[in-house]
Amino acid sequence: MWEERFAQEGYLFGTEPVPFLLKYDNYFLKGQSVLSIAEGEGRNGVHLAKKGLSVMGVEFAPSAVSKANKLAALNKVDVAFVQSDLFEWNWPQNTFDITLGLFFQFVGPVKRNVLWRKMLDATCPGGLVAIHGYTPKQLQFGTGGPPHVENMYTSASFDAVFHDCDTLVSEEYEAKQQSGSAHVGMSALIDFIARKPF
Ligand SMILES: C[S@@+](CC[C@H](N)C(=O)[O-])C[C@H]1O[C@@H](n2cnc3c(N)ncnc32)[C@H](O)[C@@H]1O
Repeated sequence: MWEERFAQEGYLFGTEPVPFLLKYDNYFLKGQSVLSIAEGEGRNGVHLAKKGLSVMGVEFAPSAVSKANKLAALNKVDVAFVQSDLFEWNWPQNTFDITLGLFFQFVGPVKRNVLWRKMLDATCPGGLVAIHGYTPKQLQFGTGGPPHVENMYTSASFDAVFHDCDTLVSEEYEAKQQSGSAHVGMSALIDFIARKPF
C-alpha cells in the first residue's frame, strides 16, 4: 500500500519537516545522533541533517527511500537512509541520542508497544525518545492517518513502555496541518518526549 502511494510523482507528505520538529527545535542539537523510524520520503531526516545532526532513517517503501536520497542530495547533506521493515530490522542498542517516530500509526497497541520498546532500547542512557502522531479524535477530522481508532495514541498510551522515563512533554491538542497532499486540515495531534534513565 505504501509503496504504491510513494511510487506516484512528487512528495506525498511534502519536503518541509513535520511542525513538531520546529516546535521542539531546542531538543535537537547539532552533533547529536538521531534514529528516525518510518522516515518516509526524507523530509524530517534532511531537516535534522541540515541542522548538523547525524541521522539514520529507517523506512520500508523503496520508492520513499529513493526520494529521500534525492532530497538529501538536493540539500547537500548526508543521511543514512536504510530500507527495512522495522519489525525485521536489527536494531542497534543504547546507541542514539534521540529516537524519533513521526506519524507511524500503521499498527495497533500490541505491535506499537513492540516498536516503542525497540525505540527505547536503541536510545542511549540519558537520551530522548520523541513521538508525534494523532489522537482518537483524528477520526472525526479525517484529514490524514489510518481509519483505525486503536492505532491512535492518548497521553496514557505511553505509560506501558515509558513508565521509567522522565516525561518532558506530553500534550494532546488540535491544530491545522499542511503536509504535502496527505496531511491537510484541522487535526487532533499528540506530542510526547521522554528522557531514558541513565
Ligand atoms: C504516515 S507515513 C510518515 C512518514 C514520515 N514519518 C513523515 O512524517 O513524513 C508512515 C510511514 O511508515 C512507513 N512504514 C509503514 N510500515 C513500516 C514498517 N513495518 N517498517 C518501516 N516503515 C514502515 C510507510 O512506508 C510510511 O513511509
